[in-house]
Amino acid sequence: MFSRSLIPAKSYFPTSYILKEQRRNAQVSIIGAANGIGSNLALLLKRNNNITRLNLYDDSEKVLSIGSDISELPGGPRVATYSGYSFLPASIRSSHLILMVSRIPRKPGYTRDQMLAANAPAVHRLCKTIAEINPDAVLAISTNPINSILPFASSMLFKYCAYEAAKIFGITQIDTSRAKAYAAKTLNVNPRHLHVPVIGGHSDETIVPLFSNMTPTHYKLDSCQADTLTKLVKKSGMEVVRNKHGVDSSTLAMACSINEFVENMVEALYGGATVVNTFTANPHFGTRFFAGPTKIGCYGIVETCGANFQMSEYERVILGNAITHLNKEVGLGEEYARMEA
Ligand code: LMR
Repeated sequence: MFSRSLIPAKSYFPTSYILKEQRRNAQVSIIGAANGIGSNLALLLKRNNNITRLNLYDDSEKVLSIGSDISELPGGPRVATYSGYSFLPASIRSSHLILMVSRIPRKPGYTRDQMLAANAPAVHRLCKTIAEINPDAVLAISTNPINSILPFASSMLFKYCAYEAAKIFGITQIDTSRAKAYAAKTLNVNPRHLHVPVIGGHSDETIVPLFSNMTPTHYKLDSCQADTLTKLVKKSGMEVVRNKHGVDSSTLAMACSINEFVENMVEALYGGATVVNTFTANPHFGTRFFAGPTKIGCYGIVETCGANFQMSEYERVILGNAITHLNKEVGLGEEYARMEA
């Protein structure tokens, strides 16, 4: 399932990036910490004793009250808050992991171009600051449209001579969480015991849940159930937007799923190899970026998934369709970056 092409040579990384087990120092920044995802994520990360310092940044001053609120909780990381653009460099200076969750949420009828135009400036600004202040950090982005934003951010980091494919991630854990939740409900089993890989990208046309690869393998869905749940996972994001009357997208489930991603990433930064479902550079499916189970370690990506999944005919067809869309959406992000350059 895994392919080795993205394994970086050890010497590829500056030694300052290597976190030694005995140091137990993992500093994390949340960019967009005052929005619905960021504030809930801040609370969850404050409960993570593996994080030593949590830097909360937002353009809005609201972040200051969020910081003082969660600082009253005992234990966990020390919390520092930063508000206003001039404090963006300070908020990421010492971080090993930078989480970009700032976004203008998707709205019904919004095109991908509109969403990209709305969110790209904040991502651009962050990439420039990372390149200047902390190019060794891992950057993980949940800002939509992820399929275009990740190629855009990668191009921007490349422009500023700070691009390392192994250290930039699109957080798509929400799709795995949804697939797991719906399968567990259908099978009437505890979701804790289930895992469903989700490959492709993060948009209605590109999300490809592989229910045929669900583990433990004795849990099986028939083709009709798999078809129904696939459609459900694909349209879940927009369903939340509709339920929130178009004013916001998923915040609580997003925060929880990003927290899951961070737990794994921090473990990896401390030297434990682990697997996360994430959107990264991956050339094995006929597109430059692809989501899927990805092995991570203290240097970022260790191995991306390769095109050797055993799939049902239905999954094969929707994957083919997803790749066509993904190429367009990746191209859109790269084109947008060329216009910015
Ligand atoms: C989702 O799938 O619900 C998310 O992409 C929502 C968002 O806008 O962050």
